[in-house]
Amino acid sequence: MSVQIAPSILSADFAALGEAVATAERGGADLIHIDVMDGHFVPNITIGPLVVKALKRVATRPLDVHLMIAEPDCYIEAFAEAGAAMISVHVEVLPHLHRTVHAIKALGAKAGVVLNPSTPVCAIEEIAADVDFVLVMSVNPGFGGQSFIPRSVEKIAAVRALLNRSGNPGAEIEVDGGIDMKTAARVVEAGARILVAGNAVFGTPNPEQATRDLKALANGVLTGHGGR
Ligand code: DX5
Ligand code: ZN
Repeated sequence: MSVQIAPSILSADFAALGEAVATAERGGADLIHIDVMDGHFVPNITIGPLVVKALKRVATRPLDVHLMIAEPDCYIEAFAEAGAAMISVHVEVLPHLHRTVHAIKALGAKAGVVLNPSTPVCAIEEIAADVDFVLVMSVNPGFGGQSFIPRSVEKIAAVRALLNRSGNPGAEIEVDGGIDMKTAARVVEAGARILVAGNAVFGTPNPEQATRDLKALANGVLTGHGGR
C-alpha cells in the first residue's frame, strides 16, 4: 500500500496541457486529476469530454475525472468513453446516488463520491459499501490555490471508519484542495491514500520535482521515515 499522487491540471498552462501531463508523469504522478466545472454547481467553467479524450491519447497514467457539475448523470457516459478511468460525482447534486454509482461502474470506470466541506459524512452512509473511492474536498470546489480547511483531517478519519464498518476496507480515500508539503502528512496520517495537488505542483517552477517531492513525503509518512 502506498500513497498515490494525482496532480490536478487545473493549475497547469491550459495552452500546453499535454506537456503538463508529461511533466507530472516524469515526476512519478500515479494519476492525472481532471477538474470538470460547469458554471452551475461551481462558479467556474473548465474542461469537457473532448479535452479528456485528447489527454487520453497522450497520458500514460489513469485519468481521474472529478465532475463538479449540476447534472452528472447526463455526462458520465461521455467521460467514460473519453477515457476516464475514475469518475467522481458530488453527493450534493444526486438524489439517486446509488443509481449513478452503479452506472459509472457499469461503464467500466471506478466510481467515487465527493463530499463538499459542509456535507456531513453521514450523507454517504448508505452508499459506502458500493463505492470504489471517496473524495473528501478540503476546500470549497471551484478554484485551485485555496487554503486547506483543517477540519478535513477529522473528516478523512471518519470516512475511513465508515468505509471499514460498511465492509468496504478496500475503498480508498482521496483528498482534494490545499494539499502541499505542509498539509500532506496530516491527511495521510488520517487515512488518505490519493492526494490531489494543483497549485503545489503546477504553481511551482519545477512541477516534475514538486510531484516527486510530494510523493516521497507522503510515502515517508506511511513508512514512518518522517514527513512532518
Ligand atoms: C478545486 C479542484 C481541485 C483543485 C485543487 O475545485 O477540485 O482539484 O485543482 O487545487 P489546489 O491543489 O491548488 O488546491
Ligand atoms: Zn478536483
